[in-house]
Amino acid sequence: MKTMLNVALPKGRLGEKVYNMFEKAGFDCPSIKENNRKLIFENEECAVRYFWVKPSDVAIYVERGAADIGVAGKDILLEYTPDVYELLDLKTGICRMAVAAKKDFRDNLQRPLKVATKFTNIAKNYYTSVGRDIDIIHLNGSIEIAPILNLSDVIVDIVETGTTLKENNLEVFETIVPISARLICNKSSFKFKNEPIEKLLKSLASQVAQEK
Ligand code: PRP
Repeated sequence: MKTMLNVALPKGRLGEKVYNMFEKAGFDCPSIKENNRKLIFENEECAVRYFWVKPSDVAIYVERGAADIGVAGKDILLEYTPDVYELLDLKTGICRMAVAAKKDFRDNLQRPLKVATKFTNIAKNYYTSVGRDIDIIHLNGSIEIAPILNLSDVIVDIVETGTTLKENNLEVFETIVPISARLICNKSSFKFKNEPIEKLLKSLASQVAQEK
């Protein structure tokens, strides 16, 4: 029996796009396209098994070896710094991590800046690097509401099209870091399942290069 390559994909549009890239690389698994609520799919012939997981959990599966390979946003990698190899920038899922606030926001340097975010580590590292004291407020979603209700002065969040900010009368004040999807790999899988991983990596890298 061939050794299976276990792949954690982020559930949603990004995951579907990335699956198509894996398929082109020779790791197809037709059952994944049947629209049902299953979360695990395998194709013994290609020796591959896919899991749909919550995007922010992909790195946990890969770090702990439940998956050999996965696709995670750079935001998650910067926030949680999982002990994995980052093999390739897939140049998709492109967005940026930014500081946003109400249009009339002016920073008052006399007091700590109140920052609402899901990404507390990214926010802390950024404000440490610019030498600004902050009061961090951890939220789990709908971050854009925080400055509107004066819960915070600013937010640190993902901006993709900018529509969410615009519709809530907020604007970007600073871009912290560009974000895109990355191929990540469990460190021991990289050693012990090197052959299929290298095959996959080579094909994905050439697909990314062709898309340029
Ligand atoms: C992200 C982010 C913004 C939105 C930005 O949320 O937190 O709310 O996308 O996208 P836009 O610039 O194209 O409007 P996501 O959809 O990931 O949901 P969540 O914050 O509830 O996890």
